[in-house]
Amino acid sequence: MCGIVGAIAQRPVAAILLEGLRRLEYRGYDSAGIAVLNPDGQLNRARTLGKVARLAEAVAAQPLPGLLGIAHTRWATHGEPATHNAHPHICRDRCAVVHNGIIENHELLRAEQRAAGHRFTSETDTEVIVHALYDALAAGLSLIDAVRQTTAQLQGAYALGVLDRHDPEHLVAARQGSPLVIGIGFGEHFIASDVFALLPVTNRFIFLEEGDLAELTRETVRIWNAAGELVERPLKTSQVTAEAAERGSYRHFMLKEIFEQPQALAATLEGRLLADRVLPESFGSQAAALFSQIQAVTIVACGTSFHAALVARHWLEAIAGLPCQVEVASEYRYRAHVVPAQALFVTISQSGETADTLAALRLAQASGYAATLAICNVPESSLVRESDLVLLTRAGPEIGVASTKAFTTQLTALLLLTIALGRLHRLDATEEARLVTLLRSVPKQLEAVLALDAQIAALAEQFVDKQHTLFLGRGTQYPIALEGALKLKEISYIHAEAYPAGELKHGPLALIDEEMPVVVVAPNNALLEKLKSNLEEVRARGGQLFVFADSQVALTATAGVTVIRLPETDDLLAPLIFTVPLQLLAYHVAVLKGTDVDQPRNLAKSVTVE
Ligand code: G6P
Repeated sequence: MCGIVGAIAQRPVAAILLEGLRRLEYRGYDSAGIAVLNPDGQLNRARTLGKVARLAEAVAAQPLPGLLGIAHTRWATHGEPATHNAHPHICRDRCAVVHNGIIENHELLRAEQRAAGHRFTSETDTEVIVHALYDALAAGLSLIDAVRQTTAQLQGAYALGVLDRHDPEHLVAARQGSPLVIGIGFGEHFIASDVFALLPVTNRFIFLEEGDLAELTRETVRIWNAAGELVERPLKTSQVTAEAAERGSYRHFMLKEIFEQPQALAATLEGRLLADRVLPESFGSQAAALFSQIQAVTIVACGTSFHAALVARHWLEAIAGLPCQVEVASEYRYRAHVVPAQALFVTISQSGETADTLAALRLAQASGYAATLAICNVPESSLVRESDLVLLTRAGPEIGVASTKAFTTQLTALLLLTIALGRLHRLDATEEARLVTLLRSVPKQLEAVLALDAQIAALAEQFVDKQHTLFLGRGTQYPIALEGALKLKEISYIHAEAYPAGELKHGPLALIDEEMPVVVVAPNNALLEKLKSNLEEVRARGGQLFVFADSQVALTATAGVTVIRLPETDDLLAPLIFTVPLQLLAYHVAVLKGTDVDQPRNLAKSVTVE
């Protein structure tokens, strides 16, 4: 999704802005641009299609000196990926704007502005902002008032960075629906879509809230809230180090993040377990009181986070005995629902900024849920700020677009939730103690499964020339099959879909032939015998099976059946353990295919628009 960086400093800003863009690359983008006000008062701009490195080359060839600038990575929504659509947009050489979000009334504004004589040079929804801004500045308003007047005309979502050629002392930012942070330096200030972009220059941040408008000089930051009142927002020191968002010696962020899972899970459990029970305070001080009222759970999320929710439904119903509904946020937010009595509304999100998930939360808050809980990886995110209760996943920065450690830490958090709720319902103390002991063993078990890396890398060769793959699982492993298929399609571009194995004969069996590898997740559980019958159905039709099975499963490799042995695990932990080899499989297939593993085409890490 689009990324914004801006700076007002006493030193040249172009290099800071370009480094910021490079650090926002993980969000997903197709073009990039930068505008800097040079010492002679000229507004200079460079824009390129493709990677930030190309933009950096363009700037190296034609430097952009100056102490005030804004920059942007664009993920196309309105208008194709093209240089003329890249931000910053400039009106009549006077003012420049970078924007993340979608302006919903852009067609109407465009028609009005065209009629008033503005010439459009892009197909973006953003361009109406810069023309409206120009009109306000031309009418004599200060930059901050011009932005105030402009945003009053906008419907939709935006984070904005704005500068005016005639005002070298100010950088203005606005936030409505898309995230934006202010970085606090010494004699310099910055704006960015997230903290990662600014870690080389500061670790002190102010997180703008919905409706905020901010005016930055080199020395001061002033913020007005949605009601137009001057407000103080807290200054926070980020714990994320610049190195945590670096790739180190790993070939890709995704591989680094897969291998970080044991420590990420350990961090997620830290301080949340006593010897034999889960601490309800882990979810916030009011959690114990709120949880005791809960009689049902609704979970809403997107993408990989949705798959974590699907696993949790099994746990919450089987272990905690609570009815649980799960839905993708983009569907949930646009339908009428019956809210169960005394229900907890849970959102799951790595970024905490996913537009559909946030909208679903806001809808739920107005619908009579007993409480809201966010399971999230970003402490300062909108989702965290707006929820009653929070459980942070502590995975650390996840940069690869394909989510890995965020998923397994979400599952860990959901097990904590299941146990915390379960003890208030049907989970007895002995069983709680057993589950807590199991949870503690997960990081070690993950280490063991990561040792299969080389074996899975070899296996990947059998997938690289395939067009389609089918993933099968039953019970809690069906969502894991969904997640395995999602990983493969996201980064290798091989069409992959997942089915609950029992549904095979209701359609997908028609697709089976030797060109269609079938990946099966087969832990040793109550559904194993049924799953084996499904595998026979595939074999009988010439399908190639790749079965991930734990060491207790009686299955032998024969012609057409490859068995990959995983360490034995308890059924409760199987979703966590069986996810890892599927992540590795997708990773190695993508590497063999030579795709852009960390930034797959067309995808964004943080989807801040609808
Ligand atoms: C995007 C990302 C996925 C992620 C989904 C939900 O599609 O590419 O990896 O699962 O958004 O994001 P969230 O931050 O809400 O978990």
